[in-house]
Amino acid sequence: MTDQEGGDTAMSQPMTTTTRMKSILKSGHLRALKTLGKGLMACFFSITISTVAMAETGGIDSLRTIDLSTEAPAEAMKKVLESDTTFHRDFIEQPPLIPHDIRGYTVNKDVNTCLQCHSWKNASKWGATRISVTHFYDRDGKQRADVAPNRYFCLQCHVPQADTAPLQKNNFEPVDSLK
Ligand code: HEC
Ligand code: HEC
Repeated sequence: MTDQEGGDTAMSQPMTTTTRMKSILKSGHLRALKTLGKGLMACFFSITISTVAMAETGGIDSLRTIDLSTEAPAEAMKKVLESDTTFHRDFIEQPPLIPHDIRGYTVNKDVNTCLQCHSWKNASKWGATRISVTHFYDRDGKQRADVAPNRYFCLQCHVPQADTAPLQKNNFEPVDSLK
């Protein structure tokens, strides 16, 4: 192996334009200049962004239409979509949407209004769907005699729907077999 063929340092190779550039860039002065340049660019961009967006949001885009330091007036109550039938499910593991109003229904450690209609004992009396068998398995996969603690707070997963414009566009399409 001669110096010309295999050497990987700029010293052992004839200086082409690129290797010369590289060796110049390696020098401390230019590296410092590059870093300074990047810093200035970052500064410039953050100034532009914070001038365009409101300073209080730190440049973060928010779904709120007013700035964070102002208390928003309460939104008008939305009309809940109610139906005697159930909503279509778009994917197999989707927690079914709630097709009725839930205003006034309490779910806390002492009371669960949902289970007054959806438990296996009461469901047929109310014509409600029974909670499914999955709701009896705890986090260790052990089947319990009653609803498992990790399924107790129904509204973590099940939500009613309102007749309103979506906040974010969503182009999700179910697979053909679920359409
Ligand atoms: C007064 C009885 C009653 C109470 C209380 C109640 N539901 Fe229902 N629920 C029903 C009935 C009846 C249906 C069947 C559809 C219909 O008639 O609206 C239903 C449907 C549902 C469905 C749709 C099931 C499916 O197969 O798609 C979900 C989910 C649901 N309820 C969740 C809840 C949750 C969560 C609560 C508590 C916040 C609750 N329900 C409280 C009676 C009740
Ligand atoms: C951790 C999320 C989660 C919680 C908490 C939860 N569910 Fe569900 N639920 C689901 C999912 C996912 C499904 C659909 C798949 C299935 O049946 O397991 C479902 C299904 C259902 C169904 C339809 C069952 C069927 O046979 O079609 C009803 C009714 C229901 N849940 C009611 C409730 C009620 C009432 C509570 C509170 C006691 C509750 N769920 C808590 C996720 C949850």
